Amino acid sequence: MGNDSLTITDNRTGKTYELPLKHGNIRAMDLRQIKSDEKDFGVMSYDPAFLNTAACESRITYIDGDVGILRYRGYPIEQLAEKSTYLESAYLLLYGELPNPQQLSTFTARIAKHTFIHENMKKFMEGFRYDAHPMSMLVSSIAALSTFYPDAGNVADPEVRELMAIRLIAKMPTLAAYAYRHTNGLPFVYPDNELDYTANFMNMLWKMAEPKYQANPVLARALDILFILHADHEQNCSTSTMRVIGSAQADPFLSMAGAAASLSGPLHGGANEEVLRMIDEIGTTDHIPSFIESVKKGERKLMGFGHRIYKNYDPRAYMVKQTADSVFGVTGRNSKVDIAREIEKIALNDEYFVKRKLYPNVDFYSGIIYEAMGFRPEMFTVLFAIPRTAGWLSHWEEQCKDRDTKISRPRQVYLGPDQRDI
Ligand code: ACO
Repeated sequence: MGNDSLTITDNRTGKTYELPLKHGNIRAMDLRQIKSDEKDFGVMSYDPAFLNTAACESRITYIDGDVGILRYRGYPIEQLAEKSTYLESAYLLLYGELPNPQQLSTFTARIAKHTFIHENMKKFMEGFRYDAHPMSMLVSSIAALSTFYPDAGNVADPEVRELMAIRLIAKMPTLAAYAYRHTNGLPFVYPDNELDYTANFMNMLWKMAEPKYQANPVLARALDILFILHADHEQNCSTSTMRVIGSAQADPFLSMAGAAASLSGPLHGGANEEVLRMIDEIGTTDHIPSFIESVKKGERKLMGFGHRIYKNYDPRAYMVKQTADSVFGVTGRNSKVDIAREIEKIALNDEYFVKRKLYPNVDFYSGIIYEAMGFRPEMFTVLFAIPRTAGWLSHWEEQCKDRDTKISRPRQVYLGPDQRDI
């Protein structure tokens, strides 16, 4: 087998096995041949939370968490945030290349065509209580969209898949804005397809009686940059959820409702909401040291800090921090940024955080910007879900085309009682 292999000796039997390495990895199924005796099931790898398990091969997003690198299809996130728009980045994620002007204009027109949602969705939204969490409304309404598109279940058809991806990217801002207007007791605003993706979203959120809402271009661009930064992050919890549900060939609306549900958790996308609550609870900078002490005692977590993959500064957190200044130039400074910066300064110099390589993640500063723009914390994760749609769908598409795809079905190590009688 040459050098591209791993030799394992089973000390129970003295037998050795040579396992082939592909791209430097073994196939977990190759472990199964390692048995203590004929009746043995064979060795599995035990990996709760998939700390060291690659569940797929992917060509979409690359992260090097030790040095803080993030690339979509090879392009550094910093360049995309500076030079592209969210829709260009979404196209890149979905199709593998940045669009030329013609491709971008066709893609943009297709997205604009599908921004409207069925009128019955308004009634569906109205059914929620006035204080329903916007993220719960979003998750439910993504699933409800499935009822309007029975053909979405035809996941073997690439044209159907593409149309559903366009529909979902187009309709997410509309669903999000409807959830926002419902919580505020305001009438729904229809999409305006003359506006670009982000300005149209702002129009649906904030248009009141004026004949034509004018989105502030600085805020629209800041939101667009935040959308680019949140568009994909390889096999994170919600994307893995999308892949797992999709592997059962559920339709993309239902798979994506599951992905969004996963995103809502406070350890994942829901952290941006929790960061603001934490900063509000801390209140003033002189309370930070006692708060940090309670974190170090294990009484609570420093929300917006730490990451499974990044053991260095999350490159998205840098860019979110930079975007804050342009937003504050329009909205006025959100003084909570001072508390956040002080927390960061203290944490980055404290042995507890240094030893564990805990740095600010993308969620640490984003809520402060969103709040300055006029969003309440309940909306923050919804603002994450809109752009992540491109990532979820790109991975779903990649999986649908992957010949290695089978229904996801992990194994367990059973430790319960042996057979017993009643
Ligand atoms: N505050 C305090 N301690 C922390 C934090 C934190 N935010 N994050 C990790 N740690 C500690 C753990 O307690 C653990 O300490 P120990 O070795 O003494 O037991 C050590 O650092 C390693 O942490 P794990 O929990 O093993 O790391 P894991 O990769 O499983 O978790 C996670 C990553 C969930 C992001 C974690 O860092 C966390 O809970 N952070 C706060 C929530 C958050 O900001 N989530 C958003 C992540 S970005 C995103 O999903 C969009």
